Amino acid sequence: MSYRLTVLPGDGVGPEVVDAAVFVLRTAAERFNFEIRLRPQIIGAAALRNGLPPLPPATLEACGASDAILLGAVGDPEFDRAPIEFRPETGLLQLRKALGLYANLRPAMVWPGLEGVGPFHPEKVAGVDMLIVRELTSGLYYGEPRGFSDDRSSAVNTMRYTRDEVERVAVVAFEAARRRRKKLTSVDKSNVLEASQLWRAEVERVAQRYPDVALDHLYVDACAMTLVLDPKRFDVVVTENLFGDILSDEAGAIAGSLGLLPSASLGDGPGLFEPVHGSAPALAGLDAANPIGAIASAALMLRHALRQEAAADAIERAIGATLAAGLRTIDLVPVGTAAVSCSAMAHAIAERLQGPPPQTLS
Ligand code: NAD
Ligand code: IPM
Ligand code: MN
Repeated sequence: MSYRLTVLPGDGVGPEVVDAAVFVLRTAAERFNFEIRLRPQIIGAAALRNGLPPLPPATLEACGASDAILLGAVGDPEFDRAPIEFRPETGLLQLRKALGLYANLRPAMVWPGLEGVGPFHPEKVAGVDMLIVRELTSGLYYGEPRGFSDDRSSAVNTMRYTRDEVERVAVVAFEAARRRRKKLTSVDKSNVLEASQLWRAEVERVAQRYPDVALDHLYVDACAMTLVLDPKRFDVVVTENLFGDILSDEAGAIAGSLGLLPSASLGDGPGLFEPVHGSAPALAGLDAANPIGAIASAALMLRHALRQEAAADAIERAIGATLAAGLRTIDLVPVGTAAVSCSAMAHAIAERLQGPPPQTLS
């Protein structure tokens, strides 16, 4: 088997964590006997600095023609005050929309050995294993009208959903719950927002097709609190675009570091696989970022896009074994403590990557 992958390193620590993920992917390809052909393309500030829009047409074309896309991060402080069409982040939002990537899977677990890394009681977070399904191409991020008034004295964004948009992401979430612990929490703000009332009604309608999945609802404010008080309560969570953005960073803190979380953005065409974290400008160029979010995103790519389930499992086991051996990047140790580099973490994970068991003759 041979796969065409578009690689979008992007900005800040993006190129470093993507190099790490590609190193592990290449090792997996050798051990599991498949081929990957990589085509790097530019996006975000990397494109803007070349006088191109944040999503250059050639990049979008390459993405559309590939089997899957691996992205690092976009975002650069230099462009923080630029108009919206000249912002690195706009490139990523355009890519998600253009490829119809409406379902964003953000799994968050506490790896054995990392229970004490964050500020939580280890016994509260040990064994956390949840999946946030974030709606990714609608809601407050994309609703019209949007923009500033002519005199810039006011600005508007719109949280709009259609029933179809809620239905398709709810189906993804119910299907995922069916393969897990059969529990789905839908998160909204239906005590205030009509868009959330529509969301809740539609999720309940879809639920009739999934009588084996236990559905409950939480308001997003209560969910934010419950996530830190009782994170083990959650199996699958499905929610609106902005709510999912916020809750997944919170889940990163529960996992021990945002640098650990991977994601898969899925639609009808090629999927996009990227860590949940951003470009972490303070760490850029230092070979210090945690590459596990990016490496675990490569595993999600193998599972969801390339159907290389055994290789995906092997990468996840190798991450677990590397953490169990005590290797820690800078974000996983107290300030001032020695840590391993981004590239060293990638090599350690690749070293622990076991191929398939040898075929026995019978
Ligand atoms: P961020 O995720 O870049 O960083 C938040 C915090 O987490 C920082 O303390 C950072 O050092 C730390 N961190 C993040 N990734 C890490 C890693 N791999 N290893 C170790 N520590 C890590 O979020 P921010 O600071 O709010 O945003 C910085 C830029 O990134 C902004 O321009 C923002 O728009 C962009 N951003 C992009 C994405 C994306 O490309 N998907 C996601 C979030 C933010
Ligand atoms: C994320 C990021 C993006 C988002 C930004 C960079 C546009 O925060 O992927 O979580 O808000 O979706
Ligand atoms: Mn985010």
